Amino acid sequence: MSHKVLVLPGDGIGPEIMAEAVKVLESLRSDGLDIELEHGLVGGAAHDASGTPLPENTLRLARAADAVLLGAVGGPRWESLNIALRPEKGLLGLRSELGLFANLRPALLYPQLASASSLKAEVVAGLDLMIVRELTGGIYFGQPRGVRVLADGQREGFNTLVYSESEIRRIARVAFDIAMKRGRRVCSVDKANVLECTELWREVVSMVAKDYPQVSLTHMYVDNAAMQLVRAPKQFDVIVTTNMFGDILSDEAAMLTGSIGMLPSASVDAAHKGMYEPIHGSAPDIAGKGIANPLGTILSVAMMLRYTLDQPDLALRVERAVEAVLSQGLRTADIHTNGCSRVGTAQMGAAVVAALHG
Ligand code: IPM
Ligand code: MG
Repeated sequence: MSHKVLVLPGDGIGPEIMAEAVKVLESLRSDGLDIELEHGLVGGAAHDASGTPLPENTLRLARAADAVLLGAVGGPRWESLNIALRPEKGLLGLRSELGLFANLRPALLYPQLASASSLKAEVVAGLDLMIVRELTGGIYFGQPRGVRVLADGQREGFNTLVYSESEIRRIARVAFDIAMKRGRRVCSVDKANVLECTELWREVVSMVAKDYPQVSLTHMYVDNAAMQLVRAPKQFDVIVTTNMFGDILSDEAAMLTGSIGMLPSASVDAAHKGMYEPIHGSAPDIAGKGIANPLGTILSVAMMLRYTLDQPDLALRVERAVEAVLSQGLRTADIHTNGCSRVGTAQMGAAVVAALHG
């Protein structure tokens, strides 16, 4: 059966990096992968074309697709818009409308890039951790929210951190299932010493752990986790945490690997339908220059092959092709170090496609 993949390039460097990921997909298709590609608008690009960051048509295509491949959204051009019309709302809307509650953000250090990390090579060598971030709940979506005017005339902003037991249970299960296929260690990150909501989080995660006797569970407060990630990141295997803590810790974990441009992510529902995107943003400062790193998006294709399209061998093939171009010494500007060859976005994409067949 043919799989439908919706391609949403988005804004900034999105279209440039997506063009390379699509080349990889097309190359796999000509080798027999049975997929149909469709294209749509999201984010600022959609706002400019139709006045909304998530047009009905895009949502319809996304619902009908097996997987969505997304570039990046946002940029200074849209920052002054009302928050409901900003590009980020397109992304948040897709996550929530598609029920993509589990966000998987691996932080893997390629040995070839050890010197690109801002930490000492021995602290990060061999780093391989997975952040499982809850993605459709918590303070990002909690009600009530807004800005109101108080009796004394000043304004007050408010958001709500809320998690039900079932929301905590299902994300915990995802984390434990992934840990079973990795190092069998889960660290649940919360702020249970201050926030009742995350006290419940801790309790429910501990209950779920009983169904996974082979996995060891630890708990850590988020401030300590932020510190441990830069002190001794290799202590972690799988980290499971709330939407906002996961947002913050995943940027931190990404940087440990030397380049945020390298890292893919998956956002999946219970049936493994998913949206795949690099974890970096739209990088408006370098958009249109042809220098952005397409590897995060290409590795997102690998995650899509593994988690939604059920093609683990092809996923591995894409990952090996990325490693091969790194071993050839090819580097985009963000991961460039002395002695390597600096290449642009399209050259990097072409090198990966060549390595796929190498
Ligand atoms: C991310 C981003 C998004 C988030 C923004 C763009 C809404 O930072 O995917 O981590 O906060 O979730
Ligand atoms: Mg983020």
